[in-house]
Amino acid sequence: MPSSVPVPKAELHLHIEGTLEPELAFALAARNGVTLSHDDELALRHAYAFEDLQSFLNLYYELMAVLRTERDFEELAGAYLERAAAQGVRHAEIFFDPQAHTARGVPFATVVHGLHRALESARERYGMSSRLIMCFLRDQPAESALATLAEAEPFLGLITGVGLDSAEVGNPPAKFREVYEKAAALGLRRVAHAGEEGPPQYVTEALDVLGVERIDHGLRAFEDAGLTARLVREGVPLTLCPLSNVRLRTVDTLAEHPLRAMLAAGLKCTVNSDDPSYFGGYVEDNFRAVRETLGLGPEELRTLARNSFEAAFLDDEEELRARYLAEVEAHDFG
Ligand code: ADE
Ligand code: ZN
Repeated sequence: MPSSVPVPKAELHLHIEGTLEPELAFALAARNGVTLSHDDELALRHAYAFEDLQSFLNLYYELMAVLRTERDFEELAGAYLERAAAQGVRHAEIFFDPQAHTARGVPFATVVHGLHRALESARERYGMSSRLIMCFLRDQPAESALATLAEAEPFLGLITGVGLDSAEVGNPPAKFREVYEKAAALGLRRVAHAGEEGPPQYVTEALDVLGVERIDHGLRAFEDAGLTARLVREGVPLTLCPLSNVRLRTVDTLAEHPLRAMLAAGLKCTVNSDDPSYFGGYVEDNFRAVRETLGLGPEELRTLARNSFEAAFLDDEEELRARYLAEVEAHDFG
């Protein structure tokens, strides 16, 4: 029998706006006088049947209109961190989409300060470490990403890295060469979504043009044997999100997810939740689903947990990484 104690892990691919549960969305809508197009929580949950990434993004951007004040962002992140702690997360690297808020008139400072307060409180309450990664919306012009990076400069003490998300196909990584160069010059770490719906070529471009250290998703990289060999050779971490892939129909069923084969090929895979409120589960739910459906064994699960801490941006807290890794080695994976 596998242990019911959650796997100690780092979550490295989590959009904080994608943790907005319907109940909180309606509570914030009422508090802020925002009208939602769905009547109630149940009607909203019924809308969670997605065709593809874009159909999800349409709802994701619509709902985040309820987030307006520093307190809203703090409550949003606080609710995620509480669930994450209960699901074995020791370290969380959290994406946020500043353009989706500043475009609505919410100041950058409001977003970052609200999130940061929740992260500080999680360190005190649960002993959880964390990082913030600001993502550029790839379906917006490159100039908007550059303006967002400039807007972020006063807050760089609170931000560890940059990422790239939103609608992938037709928005290749090379569009963001300049802003990634500037981010690197500012000392920011770099990641990007690539190979979620987009072709393997986008993964190569993210590595070669943007200089990313991890690939978010990277699922479709596995279609290309040469690229797979390179990712294995270079030890590039992939932040996979199995339940997200099923909900957004990147794979037909979880049973057909290539995670197990990707691990066997030597890819440095991690398992994450992406947008857990929308995709049917938080990170331990993803671990449980792949264990049960793909039949992952104890050593495969241990590898996933170990990879998550090895791939984390913990270079300034190596003693913490060592402590987390020791916990993984001591954990009973069943
Ligand atoms: N933004 C939030 N979730 C996303 C995903 N899965 N892919 C791209 N952009 C996103
Ligand atoms: Zn994502």
